[in-house]
Amino acid sequence: MIDVAERLWDPSDPAFRANPYPFYDRLRTESPVYRAPGGPLVISRYDDIVRVLRSNAFSRDVEANAKFDENDIVERRRRDRRGGAKTILNLDPPDHTRLRRLVSKAFTPSAVDRLRPRMETMVDEVLDRAAERGEIELVDELAFPVPFQVISELLDMPTERADELRSWSQALTLGLEPGATMDDLDAAEAAIMQLIPYLVTIIDERRSTPGDDLLSGLLAVEDEGDTLSPAELIAFVVLLYVAGHETTVNLIGNGTLALLRHPDELARWRNDPSLDSAAVDELLRFDGPVQHTVRVPMEPAIFIGAHGEQIVAEPGDTVLTVLGAANHDPTVFEAPHVLRLDRHNAQRHLAFSTGIHYCLGASLAKLEAATGIGRLIRRFETIELAGEPHWRDRLTIRGVDRLPLRVS
Ligand code: HEM
Repeated sequence: MIDVAERLWDPSDPAFRANPYPFYDRLRTESPVYRAPGGPLVISRYDDIVRVLRSNAFSRDVEANAKFDENDIVERRRRDRRGGAKTILNLDPPDHTRLRRLVSKAFTPSAVDRLRPRMETMVDEVLDRAAERGEIELVDELAFPVPFQVISELLDMPTERADELRSWSQALTLGLEPGATMDDLDAAEAAIMQLIPYLVTIIDERRSTPGDDLLSGLLAVEDEGDTLSPAELIAFVVLLYVAGHETTVNLIGNGTLALLRHPDELARWRNDPSLDSAAVDELLRFDGPVQHTVRVPMEPAIFIGAHGEQIVAEPGDTVLTVLGAANHDPTVFEAPHVLRLDRHNAQRHLAFSTGIHYCLGASLAKLEAATGIGRLIRRFETIELAGEPHWRDRLTIRGVDRLPLRVS
C-alpha cells in the first residue's frame, strides 16, 4: 500500500508544481510531521516551523551536521565540493552572529532606500517599451532585469557581463536544490570557478578605488577591530547575487500572476497605493518564492503528530520546514487560500523565514516588488495573460519561467 503522505509529498508531480497548496493542506492535517522517503522529516504546521527556525538547538549548517548515506554519490560530491568560506546562510552562532553584525553595518535600510528613485526609473523604462508594443514578457523584461540591475548598482558592479552572471547564478542555485544531479553539481562548480576570479578582480579594483557603494562599504566595515576576510566577502557577494536574482524575480512573477487571477484585489491595490507594503506581504504569504528551508537538530526534538503521537527528530536528521505550508496554515491565517491584500496579519508570513537567518534583503525585495508590480498595474488599465504560465522545474524555489502579458 502506498503511504498516503507519500502521495501528498511528491514535489516532482506536475500537479504539485502547479499548485502545491492543496497538497500542503492534506499533509498538515493528515501527517504534519512526515518522514519522507530518503529521510527528511517534513514539517508543515506554522507553530512547529516557527519553533524550529527560532531555536538555537537546530543548526543551519546542513553539510557539517546532517547525516547522509555514504553510498549516495551525489550527496558525497555535494559535500566534497564545499571549500572556502561558508555563506552567512549556512553558519550557526557564534560565527553567524559575527558575520551578520558586520554585513548588517553596510547593508542598511538607508542604503536600500537610496535606490528607490533609480528603481522607479528602471521600471518605467521597461513599461514604456511595453506600452509601445502592447505586450511584455514579464519575467525576462522586468522581473529578472530590474532586481539584477538593482543589486549590480547597489554593489556598483559592471553590468556588461549580465548574461554570464545570470547563467552562473542560475547554475549555482540549481546546484543547491535538494534534487540536484551530478551534472547540476558539475555545472554549479564550473560557474563558481568563473565567478570567483571575476569577483576577485572587481574587489581588488574597489579596494584601491573605493566608492559610495555596498561593496566598498563591506570592504571598509569594521567592528571592534573585526573585519570580513577576503573569502567571507566573496561568499557574501555571491550570496547577494544569487539571492538577488533567484528570489525577487519569482515574487514579481508569482505576485503578478496571483493578481491577474484575482482582478478585484488587483483593482483594490491599483486604487490605493497606501496598500503597497501590506499587498506585497500578502503576495509573499499567498505564493512565496522560497517554499522550504532546512535545519538539523543538535539534540533530540519532539514533535506531535496528527494523532497526538510523539515523533522524535534525532541529531543529524534533516528537518524540512515547509514555509509555503505555514503560510497557508488556517490556525494563523483565516481563509488562507483567499488573497486579501488588506489581510490584518499578512506580515506574520514566513516567506523570509524567521529567527536569526531572517532574510537580510527583505526590505529590498519588498521595495522591488512594490515598485515593479505597483507601477505595472497603475500604468496599464488592461493587463491580460497572453499564454499559459509554466512553473519552473524547481523544488525549493517556486516561480514561473515565462509570463507573457498583453497590456494596454
Ligand atoms: C522575495 C525575495 C526573497 C525571498 C523570498 C527571500 C527569502 C529568504 C529566506 C527564506 C531566507 C532564510 C532561509 C533560512 O532561514 O534558512 C533568506 C536569507 C537571506 N536572504 Fe533572502 N530572500 C529574498 C530576497 C533577497 C534579496 C534581494 C537579498 C539581497 C540582495 C537577500 C539576501 C539574503 C541573505 C543575505 C540571507 C541570509 C541571512 C542570514 O543567514 O542571516 N534575499 N532569504
